[in-house]
Amino acid sequence: MSKQTLERILQSQGFGTRKWCSQIIADGEVGINGEIVTDSRLILETSGLEFSVYGEPWQYREHVYIALNKPADYECSRKPSHHPGVLSLLPEQFSLRDVQPVGRLDHDTTGLLLMSDDGAFIHAQSSPKRHIPKVYVATTHDAVTPQLVAQLLKGVKLHDEPAPLAAVVCNRLDEHQLEIVLEQGKYHQVKRMLAAAGNHCTALRRTEIGGLKLAALNLAEGEWRYLDEAQRALLTAP
Ligand code: URA
Repeated sequence: MSKQTLERILQSQGFGTRKWCSQIIADGEVGINGEIVTDSRLILETSGLEFSVYGEPWQYREHVYIALNKPADYECSRKPSHHPGVLSLLPEQFSLRDVQPVGRLDHDTTGLLLMSDDGAFIHAQSSPKRHIPKVYVATTHDAVTPQLVAQLLKGVKLHDEPAPLAAVVCNRLDEHQLEIVLEQGKYHQVKRMLAAAGNHCTALRRTEIGGLKLAALNLAEGEWRYLDEAQRALLTAP
């Protein structure tokens, strides 16, 4: 349980500086339980708080945990240079509360991307010690052969990596598609592993993280949703 003034609550939720939040409250743009509230110093319990800003309903969230179905041609970096950033697909409040991608997908990789403003969560999800499996579907230039699958399972040596890297699971899906499960998240790992095994990745999609499946989230490309506790619990479980 935690109590805060309305202006601080709005600030924490990404609606701008305290001064700006105080102003929009005074302007009658903020409602609680259907009533406009103009006192920015009103003290409220944050837990379970629902409010509206410019008529749009919001729920107080100490942190946000988001799954995005990333389209191609969006960058995960904080300062995107060649394509728009993934944050541009979310409400602008999320940038102001410092929501960021959990790890990175390449600009041309699509699929499941987690985003959050909870540093401990981001750190835990990104930690190599946790061995969280991530499932990718790769489209290949050359045909997927049993040798390719065997090589990826055995491990391939990548430049700058001291030891060979191997897929935990690798399944041929069709002549030019394979499913590959990795527990590390090295730079361009799938593409580099396929290149090291003599093929070339022409498209890449992440479909699962831990036990969380993109297909179960029902998100069209570019769409996002909040993850509830049960969905977050799946992230560590295979
Ligand atoms: N491996 C890659 O090569 N690219 C990604 O975006 C993710 C994994």
